[in-house]
Amino acid sequence: MAFSRAFLDELEARNPIEDVVGHYVSLKPRGSNLFGLCPFHGEKTASFSVAPDKGIYYCFGCHKGGNVFNFMMEIEGLTYPDAVRALAKRVGMEVPEDEQYQSRYRHQERLWALSKEAARFFRAQLFSPAGAQGLAYAQQRGMPKATLTTFGVGFAPNAWSALTDAMRKKGYTDQELIDSGLVSEKGGRIFDRFRNRLMFPIIDVRGNVIGFGGRVMDDSTPKYLNSPETEIFNKRKNLFGLNLAKKSKLGYLILVEGYMDAVSLHQYGFDCAVASLGTSLTEEHAALLSRYTEQVILIYDGDTAGQRATKRAIPMLEKVGLQVKVLQMKGAKDPDEFLKKFGADRFKLLLEGASNRVEYQLNAIARKYDIREDDQRVKFIQECALLISALPSSVQQEVYGNRVAEVGGISFEAMKMEIAKANKNRIRREKKLQEKKDLAPVQAVQPKSRTIRYDDVKSAMAEEGVIGQGLREPALFDLCGDLRASDFSSSLLGRVYEQLRACQSRGLRVELSSLEGFELDEMSHIAGILQRQSGPVNEQAMKDYIATIRAEAQKRGVHTEDDLLALRNKLKESKGYKV
Ligand code: GTP
Ligand code: MN
Repeated sequence: MAFSRAFLDELEARNPIEDVVGHYVSLKPRGSNLFGLCPFHGEKTASFSVAPDKGIYYCFGCHKGGNVFNFMMEIEGLTYPDAVRALAKRVGMEVPEDEQYQSRYRHQERLWALSKEAARFFRAQLFSPAGAQGLAYAQQRGMPKATLTTFGVGFAPNAWSALTDAMRKKGYTDQELIDSGLVSEKGGRIFDRFRNRLMFPIIDVRGNVIGFGGRVMDDSTPKYLNSPETEIFNKRKNLFGLNLAKKSKLGYLILVEGYMDAVSLHQYGFDCAVASLGTSLTEEHAALLSRYTEQVILIYDGDTAGQRATKRAIPMLEKVGLQVKVLQMKGAKDPDEFLKKFGADRFKLLLEGASNRVEYQLNAIARKYDIREDDQRVKFIQECALLISALPSSVQQEVYGNRVAEVGGISFEAMKMEIAKANKNRIRREKKLQEKKDLAPVQAVQPKSRTIRYDDVKSAMAEEGVIGQGLREPALFDLCGDLRASDFSSSLLGRVYEQLRACQSRGLRVELSSLEGFELDEMSHIAGILQRQSGPVNEQAMKDYIATIRAEAQKRGVHTEDDLLALRNKLKESKGYKV
């Protein structure tokens, strides 16, 4: 264990969960809990709860939850030790660092320092004779010096060890160079990974250089070479340009595909542009964006790959509560090309005309059909009607219904009927789905996290009960007798049970923060169990839960010592002799 129990206990005591959460979420009391708008998903009614007495938070909407450490991890994107450090800093406590953590943290800091040093080196190269070609290319791509400075663009010279030599001189070890992803290794020798490329440093929201994207200056491949994943560089969690865009006053963020697109947008005054790092959009990206804005304008390339990426990105962004608009490039393949061809004013017009999600989806439907053909026109109208029928406001339904009626060449009356029909069908379908769900209670109680599943729901409910009761009244664990973790049908709940009981038998505090080695989604799930427990703590209920777990375990063929003994006696009896 990294930090001592005593230290963590005091840290937790000095950081009441309602204070820590209250710093991010405005909370209002309701019953014995506090409620607020969930910071982890977009919502208009407060389903995010904090239970000061239990020391936990839990969102009834998105099912995220845990203790004060989990909250810091989730909201600030920190690792567990860093969450501990942040909370210690908050209350001015000294962190008793153990060797391993100290050295890992130092290692990370070394990699950040090395990456920053490398960015400086590349930048110096760009403006030196060795970088003449790079500077010429940057100019040819229309990047003035100011842009190069803003983004810290540099140049990796056409040599095998220019960076390696320079960094060794600065005192960085070969191992550190390898760990930073700046060099490659072959046959025990290392050499510069980036050669003869224009270098874009990738900087996280805290201002650390975490990686690089390097572009060739001709048509050779790969066009872009990116840093590999390292201890400090995670493509799924970072976006190019967000360090700058987060300061934008424009009030929205523009999400594009290419580094050059983001750079050009900033150069032309749209200082709110970010680009993904050569990967498709992830849930982490969406969550990250939602921390800095409420509205995202998606501008992906017009090709089929770009369209597919757009279709995929819309629900991901909406899921975290972002309002999404989609801009269709016209007359150019990407924003960079557009800005250079037509300028900022024309782009602004394009931005103002950026369609919202509904328009975008209606356009996408229109593209599928040739509406000059009657039968296809009918299908086009029906599919649009289905989309429109699901819109929440009647005003929206009328506006878009009118538009489709016009395009489809039918009266608005006919369109209205079509929408009503689609609505009925949709409701019938949804009802059927709901019925199916209701008929399958097994599904209803399954954990919301996709990584946790209950195989034996009946037992799992009882297991949740035992844990929930025990967390609220540890003495009730005494009723468990020889009930073992292996009797639990859910290995996750078994692990929880085992750790809590160990705490109880050793006289330690039995609470969520006593648990060790659980993933965030697992902690969320456990917090959910605790938060769902209400009503009195009850000895009889505990006994019933235990009996259920035992019975189910037996059905599954898990035998306790007593069972085995009984079985043996039974066998002996049946053979006609007694022991
Ligand atoms: P320019 O041609 O310089 O204008 O590049 P761009 O920014 O317009 O990039 P493009 O639209 O071709 O690609 C979009 C993004 O995909 C780039 O910014 C990179 O992040 C990534 N990408 C493109 N080509 C490669 C490649 O060859 N390898 C890798 N790893 N990523 C690439
Ligand atoms: Mn481009």
